[in-house]
Amino acid sequence: VIQGDHWQQLYQQKTEAQMSWTQSQNQLSVEWFKDLDLAKDSPILDAGCGLSPLTDELLHLGYQDLTLIDLAQSALDKVQHRVAEHKQKLKLITGDITQLTLPAAHYQCWHDRAVFHFLTETSQQQAYYQQVSRSIKAGGHLILATFAEDGPQQCSGLPVQRYSAGRLTEFFAPAFHLEKCQKDIHKTPFATQQAFVYCHFIRNAKGEGLCPNSPL
Ligand SMILES: C[S@@+](CC[C@H](N)C(=O)[O-])C[C@H]1O[C@@H](n2cnc3c(N)ncnc32)[C@H](O)[C@@H]1O
Repeated sequence: VIQGDHWQQLYQQKTEAQMSWTQSQNQLSVEWFKDLDLAKDSPILDAGCGLSPLTDELLHLGYQDLTLIDLAQSALDKVQHRVAEHKQKLKLITGDITQLTLPAAHYQCWHDRAVFHFLTETSQQQAYYQQVSRSIKAGGHLILATFAEDGPQQCSGLPVQRYSAGRLTEFFAPAFHLEKCQKDIHKTPFATQQAFVYCHFIRNAKGEGLCPNSPL
């Protein structure tokens, strides 16, 4: 079940300091974007962006075509207000990343921190595979950060699926191959630690269609 109301209320009721995933900077993703050095007009999508500082950081790097998607309209409203002067560079879409109809073979980079791991049902995971394999162009990038195998079992009171880089690599084949991966420890605003795994995948020329692999 997709928990739209849960997230919508959360961003209305809590401050960023009360959300475990809050970061002042998304340092690792920014480093990887700098390494990628994409053309500044490349279409980039942040799936389940929440209030992430990545938007501001990508704008600061000069990117001009950012699509921000979240289930929670309340989060997108706050982001829009925060970066109001860059309005013409942003497309904000409220909806479920597994269900939206996005342009085919369009995005040069799809970024997801702490969203895919909430998809605990096989059908949702398969829908995600189909979405990324359809909407990322050949040679394009998927930067995915999930809780690692030794990460938390829940987030925001919701169950999550934890992953190793190996399992993610198997799951996203054959549409994607792994370029690099790195473990990362996130320090929450409550001074606890969460183990993440970051993977950078590249979209192969082939491999669209049904998701052939189980994530488990
Ligand atoms: C743990 S937060 C991470 C937010 C942001 N990516 C970050 O790193 O700060 C998860 C976010 O994903 C959104 N979300 C969860 N499931 C989603 C779905 N199926 N489609 C779109 N957004 C979703 C939530 O509303 C929430 O903003």
